[in-house]
This record gives sequence, structure tokens and C-alpha cells, in this order.
Amino acid sequence: MKKLTILVGVTASIAIYRSAELVRELSKRGHSVRVAMTRTAALWMSPVIFSALSSHSVYTEDNHKEDGMPHIVIRDNLDLFITAPATADFISRAAAGHADDLLTATLLSYSGPRWIAPSMNPNMFRHPATQKNIDMLESYGYKILSPADGEAVCGDKGEGKMMPVQDIVSAIEDFAAHG
Ligand SMILES: Cc1cc2nc3c(=O)[nH]c(=O)nc-3n(C[C@H](O)[C@H](O)[C@H](O)COP(=O)(O)O)c2cc1C
Repeated sequence: MKKLTILVGVTASIAIYRSAELVRELSKRGHSVRVAMTRTAALWMSPVIFSALSSHSVYTEDNHKEDGMPHIVIRDNLDLFITAPATADFISRAAAGHADDLLTATLLSYSGPRWIAPSMNPNMFRHPATQKNIDMLESYGYKILSPADGEAVCGDKGEGKMMPVQDIVSAIEDFAAHG
């Protein structure tokens, strides 16, 4: 099976810890994994964790400024750019075509496969604004990894939990095998 070069975008959802598991599982399977975090995500979970799990330094808002054109450097030679977890706010920024942080700028400059794994409270997910943003991203060719049904950390029930890591890994392995 082809081994992929994958950029994992990490945003500030309560499911951020699952992203570490995703990076670990993908690295274990021999994929080359790079990680880019939003400013808030990097405050919530240390980039050191992702660096250790991916064996690469992590792109954050604070460490990329000397890299010339970081959003271009990062996106070069990628096979897949997956943002997991993706917050409602990130999805809104991406749908609007914002490029005011490293993650959105990189997303906008990358034209290869872009996958988004929404992760949020069920009401946030159901909200017409979020649904409209998701439809917009789909119309741009993004693949949306449907969130799971269940009970959110706050107790609300419904769709919104990030797709289970094993399911995301299976989808990526399938993509690696069949394109
Ligand atoms: C404890 C806590 C948990 C949160 N969990 C989520 C979440 O699961 N999904 C979401 O869309 N927003 C969540 N938010 C709100 C986001 O963190 C907030 O919109 C933030 O600005 C997103 O930043 P980012 O998209 O740049 O990473 C949470 C906020 C707090 C304080």
C-alpha cells in the first residue's frame, strides 16, 4: 500500500486529544505525518505531544514566521490534508475563504484532497449556519467525515462527535490503497 504524506490540521475542539491518537495511528502505519495547529489548539495541547507522535516539528502560529512562505512550504508534496478535529469556527472560516491564520491560509493554497472531520456540540452542528458552511465546503470538493451520533461532553445528544479515530484511519487506508 502506498504510504502517504499527510498534514493533520488540529483545531480547538474538546476532541483535540483524539487527534493525538489519529497522528499516532497514522505514523504507526508508516505514513509521514505533519501537524499544523491553530493558536488556540496549541494552547490547549502542547505541540510537543504531536511532535513526539509524528517525529516532526509542529507548525504553529508562533513558530513558522521565519519560514518564508510557510503556507506554501507546508502544502508542498502533500497527499492529503485532513483537519481533525475541525471546530465550527474553523469550518466557518474555511467556508468563507479566510486566510488569516496558518491553517486556513494553507488550506486555501492547497488544491489536493482536503478532508474535514467536524467536532462540536450537536446544536452547533445542526445549526443552519454550520450546515450551510459544510455544504459550501462540499461544493468546493472537500470531503466531510460525518460526525457520529451520541452524547456530547456537555450532555447534549445528537450528531456532532468527531468520527471515531479508527474509522478515519480506515478511510485514509482505503484512500491510500485506491486513491
Ligand atoms: C472547553 C471548550 C471546549 C470547546 N469545544 C468545542 C468543540 O468541540 N467544537 C467547537 O466547534 N468549538 C468548541 N469550542 C469553541 C472553540 O474553542 C472556539 O470557537 C475557538 O475559537 C476555535 O478556535 P480554532 O478554530 O481557531 O481552533 C470549545 C470551547 C471551550 C472553551
